[in-house]
Amino acid sequence: MAQGKVYFIGGGPGDPELLTLKAKRLIESADVVIYADSLVHPAIVEFAKPGAEVHGSKELNLDEIMELTLQAVAEGRTVARIQSGDPSIYGAMLEQMRVLESAGVDYEIIPGVSAAFAAAAKLKVELTVPDVSQTVIMTRAQGRIAMPPKEQLQDLAAHGCTLIIFLGITRMPRIVRELKAAGYPEDTPAAIAYRVGWEDEQIIRGTLADIADKVRDAKITRQALVLVGRAVDPALRDPDLAEAAEVATSHLYSGSYTHLFRRSRERAGAGAGNSAGSADAG
Ligand SMILES: C[S@@+](CC[C@H](N)C(=O)[O-])C[C@H]1O[C@@H](n2cnc3c(N)ncnc32)[C@H](O)[C@@H]1O
Repeated sequence: MAQGKVYFIGGGPGDPELLTLKAKRLIESADVVIYADSLVHPAIVEFAKPGAEVHGSKELNLDEIMELTLQAVAEGRTVARIQSGDPSIYGAMLEQMRVLESAGVDYEIIPGVSAAFAAAAKLKVELTVPDVSQTVIMTRAQGRIAMPPKEQLQDLAAHGCTLIIFLGITRMPRIVRELKAAGYPEDTPAAIAYRVGWEDEQIIRGTLADIADKVRDAKITRQALVLVGRAVDPALRDPDLAEAAEVATSHLYSGSYTHLFRRSRERAGAGAGNSAGSADAG
């Protein structure tokens, strides 16, 4: 009998409409579905076909998950292993891949919408604003898992760029302290995205001066992201704010900026064809 295959599937932040078409198709056709039931929305698992074997992974350890997976594959069945957001971000993927590699099992990873990008969308922010920040650091708060040397929050915060902090909502006072110590001013915009894409989603905006108190008052203790930096400032969208309009305008769609797919109007008129900018136009 031919061996089955394992698909690690990015289940997105919650909202089932944020699944990719490929993810949905693979969930629909899988014989066995193993999903992170603490973070993956139950509506996503409802796409499984009738008769599919469905397991929540919340109460299973790695050995138990891999045993279920290997057994299914040996029986020629297809396994959809649904992880939250995108599997490559804090997805504990490596240890699962190692087991599959050593058993010679075929597997594929289907990317998903990370909670980081769902949060940016809800907040209506551009994480990379010209003249404000062109870099996004995704990190986590130090907890039981130690951060590698040079990846302490203070070290990362020294860049002053847009920060997205996972797994840190219960450590807000310390996060704020470290960011301020690294040089982020008290009035740096900050936002919390709690269970973005779920029915009880909450968005909280503030600054480093008050965000920790707001989180405490809202009693948020899990499944939330912390976004920090000037790019998170809602005022950047304000068309009446001259300063915002000045700093935050990308060259990309400017008539005088050229790239592979668009020549400048003036140059096109003059018959010039060289592109000056990047081909990776947004
Ligand atoms: C184990 S990590 C998984 C991250 C996931 N792979 C991703 O790309 O979004 C779990 C953490 O991600 C964040 N998270 C996951 N889903 C979220 C959601 N719907 N809303 C806000 N934060 C979320 C929280 O910080 C949570 O503690």
